Amino acid sequence: MPAASPEIQLRWIKRVKPVAFTACLIPAALLIWRAATDTLGAEPIETITFTTGDWTLRMLMITLAITPLRQLTGWHALIRLRRMFGLYAFFYALLHFTTYIVLDQFFAWQFILEDIAERLYILVGFTAFVLLIPLAATSTNRMLQRLGGKRWQRLHRLTYAVPILGVLHFLWLVKADITEPAIYALVLSILLGYRIVRYRRRRASQAVAGVPKRATP
Ligand code: HEM
Repeated sequence: MPAASPEIQLRWIKRVKPVAFTACLIPAALLIWRAATDTLGAEPIETITFTTGDWTLRMLMITLAITPLRQLTGWHALIRLRRMFGLYAFFYALLHFTTYIVLDQFFAWQFILEDIAERLYILVGFTAFVLLIPLAATSTNRMLQRLGGKRWQRLHRLTYAVPILGVLHFLWLVKADITEPAIYALVLSILLGYRIVRYRRRRASQAVAGVPKRATP
């Protein structure tokens, strides 16, 4: 089936974007609602930590899914949603990290530093968060122009490292049932595997194109 024309795609994406923007805010709004109505459960800090951690990982996966979706469906206008999902990943990571610093550890910096150094899953989560900062900071068109396309692209390859570290963080922190992090690991393998296969195919076809043609007798 041929993809819709670029004009139609653009029109649809312009309609979908505010809906997607609002939908992405719902998990945070629900947390605020539950906090206000005292319905966060027996372990409210844990509920906030888990919810924000889950949504960070989900937003990272959605962001990574945009490129394969564009390429497989021909809906190239989807690129206009990618930055928004990426920034939402940062937003939920920031909430997750702030929950840990403020509500969980209550600014006990000495203990926080020890925790980062001693518990591997905290160190890995922290590294993922730190790597997200330059991505969020350089997500604007102005920063793209400032850095130049090549440098910007090289920096934004960190987009692959962050979810890998995020999934490892989740795998290492669960004590018994690894089903949930294993599902994220599977989804991530598919999303990254798709890119590897495509990259290899492109390299192979470039290599074929680069072989000098023999003169036909
Ligand atoms: C991109 C960065 C990160 C991602 C994707 C992420 C993701 C997650 C996920 C998915 C969970 C488990 C949620 C569940 O069980 O349903 C979690 C838990 C947790 N994360 Fe993160 N996280 C990140 C960064 C951080 C950072 C920077 C810290 C603190 C320095 C942190 C501290 C924690 C803690 C304390 C828990 C709860 C562990 C427990 O009580 O068993 N995370 N995170």
